[in-house]
This record gives sequence, C-alpha cells and structure tokens, in this order.
Amino acid sequence: MVWPHSFTDLRKAAHTRLPRFLFDYVDGGSFAEVALARNSAAVCAVTLRQKVLNDVSQSDLSTTLFGQTLAMPLMLAPVGMGGILARRGEIQAIRAAHANGVPMVLSTVTLCSAREIAAATGLPFWFQLYMAKDRGFVVDLLAQIRELGCRHLFMTVDLPVPGPRWRDQRSGLSGPPGALGQWRRWSQILTHPRWAWDVGVRGKPHTLGNLVPIMNGKVKLNDFLRWSGQNFDPSVTWKDLEFIRSHWEGTLVLKGIMDPDDARKVADIGADGLVVSNHGGRQLDGTVGTAEALPAIVDAVGERLTVLIDGGIRNGLDVLRMLALGAKGVMIGRPWAFALAAGGEDAVSRMLAQFAHELRAGLALTGCARAADAGRHLLAGRSAVQR
Ligand SMILES: Cc1cc2nc3c(=O)[nH]c(=O)nc-3n(C[C@H](O)[C@H](O)[C@H](O)COP(=O)(O)O)c2cc1C
Repeated sequence: MVWPHSFTDLRKAAHTRLPRFLFDYVDGGSFAEVALARNSAAVCAVTLRQKVLNDVSQSDLSTTLFGQTLAMPLMLAPVGMGGILARRGEIQAIRAAHANGVPMVLSTVTLCSAREIAAATGLPFWFQLYMAKDRGFVVDLLAQIRELGCRHLFMTVDLPVPGPRWRDQRSGLSGPPGALGQWRRWSQILTHPRWAWDVGVRGKPHTLGNLVPIMNGKVKLNDFLRWSGQNFDPSVTWKDLEFIRSHWEGTLVLKGIMDPDDARKVADIGADGLVVSNHGGRQLDGTVGTAEALPAIVDAVGERLTVLIDGGIRNGLDVLRMLALGAKGVMIGRPWAFALAAGGEDAVSRMLAQFAHELRAGLALTGCARAADAGRHLLAGRSAVQR
C-alpha cells in the first residue's frame, strides 16, 4: 500500500480486501443512496476564506468537548459490526484512536463486547446506545459500561426502524433468504482468502458481543441480526429519555438530529449535546445533507448544547469546513471503517494522523492557528449550502 492515503485510496483497498457483502454493508446507504451522495456534496460545497500573512507557526488542534481535551475535534463514530472488518477490529480501532488522542464511540452492536475491549486495551471509551424494547437489557448495559469507566453516552434516535438497504439485499447480507443468500456470502468469502483466514477463521467469535448475554445460546450472526431487527423500539418518544436520564448520570448526547425544532427539544430535556446526522445516509434517503442542516441547528441551540456533525467528512479540510459552519467537532464513520479493513490498527492510526496534518494545513491557510478559534468568520460568502 502506498502512503499517504486519501479516503478514495482506503475505500479502494477495503474493496479489494473485503467480501463484497461486507464492503457494500459499509459503503452503501439506504434506498437509492441519494442522501449518502448529498452528504459529501454538501460538505465539499462549503467554501473558506484564504487569509495570508498571519503568524500560524504555533498551531493547536486541541479542543475540549464534554470536559475532555481531545488532540483534535474528531471522534470515531459508532459503526455496528465494525469488528468484522479486521480481526477483533474494534480493539484495533480504539488503540489507533487513543494513540492519536481522539475518542472512539462504541456501537451497541460491536463485534467485541465493551467488556472484551476494556479488558484487552484498558482504554477509556464512549458508548452509543440503541433503545431496545427489552428495557432490562438497556439498564444492564448502562450499568455495565458505567462500571467499565464510560462517562459519555450517545443515544442514537434516527433508527426507529432500519432504513431499507437495497445494496445489502443485492449483495447477500440481508437477502435473499435461506440457502441462496448463504451461498452468495460463502462464494464471496472464498474469493477473499486474506479476509477469510485473518477474520473468518482467526477472528472468531463472530457474535455481537454486548448482546450475547441475552441471546439464550443463539449465537449465529443471523440470530443477532434478527434480534436487532426485532428489538429496536419504534415506539420510543421524547418521554422515554427520562428513563435514560434516570439510569445515566454522565454526559448524554443525542445522535441523529436534523431539524431545529428537534434540536430545541434536545436542549429542553437537559441533554449535553447532539450530533447532526442522518446515519451516514443510511436511514431517510430524502434528507438534506448534514452540512446543509447544521447552520440552522447551530443558530437554534448552539448556545445551549455542544453541536457535533457527521456524514461525508473525508479529510482534515472537511473537518475545518464543519468547524467553520459552527460545529464544535465531527464524527467520522466510513473513513475509519475502510482504513480498518484496509490495514488494521496501523492504517486507522495513519489515517487519523493524516486528518490532523490536513486540519493543521487548512487552519494555517485560513490564517487561523487554533482549531478552537475556527468559526463562521472563516466562511467565504454564503452559498445555498451555508444558508
Ligand atoms: C457500516 C456502518 C455501520 C453503522 N452503525 C452504526 C451504529 O451501530 N450506531 C450508530 O449510531 N450509527 C451507526 N452508523 C452511522 C455512523 O455512526 C455515522 O453516523 C456515519 O457513518 C457518518 O457518516 P460517514 O460514514 O459518511 O462518516 C453506521 C455507519 C456505517 C457506515
């Protein structure tokens, strides 16, 4: 592999490495994938002022979010089943995140359980929660992650039902049912021997670790996917957040907010922050790009909440674009997932170092030395994307 890596390079390397149904699982969006494309387009459409002859020799990317200082304003977004992209993948990814001074938000549906990750690495983690119908499971999980030292909870609210993923049906992850679907997956695995040996054979168990205690011995991946499908709770409303609040004393961030009215409700319930997100274009395919939604949300609640954003952020300059639109930090999903598939911990670490390098360069070229000082004064004019 040639360094440095752009997102395009990493995506290409992941495509070579992964069985098709796993590559498509990460790469794809919902329905016709319009929101997926719109996210990246909206990020790229943000234009910055080029400013010269400022002393930018003392650059500082660090940012404080929720009382914690990060090396740069970036987090690894929760990616369900991310651990299947490389051997015990979440363990590799969190090591890379830690080495680069940024947090990783573990998904509820990681391959490695939170307990396994904590035991293997001893590293702190942030956690993402899906509200399950089984509230006992939710309470136990919250107690467990608190016991493991987690203090930051991201509750994902844009998945009352899974968005239809046509690509997953085509490639074999979620269809066709029965032997045909299984045959399709097996044929893809057999033609990707490096993944098959490294992860398929040596990376077991292939179970969703946090769910194992409640699966009554049903540990095949299909059992877990069925459980997830049946147990995400579409009846959850704002009232249920009181239930979460009563079982969680740490930071609470709602992930999946795209509307200023919803953002105000997030502030009213006393949450600490929100993530402007459409789940990486994997849910409602008719949304605007997240960068299009961000400015109005910052205007509505930026004084009361820490506003983060994800979707289509592919390099360090994109991070700066989002800071310039008013976000306090960003999350990245597919970039770390593809890096993990392409080259494990080392590739995720290099990718993060590259993001930092690019953010530093972008800041210097806008005449701003400190990420914490980046804001709307860096924007060049106002396009449709920027309001
Ligand atoms: C393969 C995949 C799995 C994901 N799984 C989860 C998940 O378990 N929980 C969650 O809140 N978001 C999940 N997301 C959404 C990400 O957290 C994030 O919002 C999105 O990836 C950001 O867009 P980007 O991939 O363009 O950076 C997933 C995204 C991908 C690509």
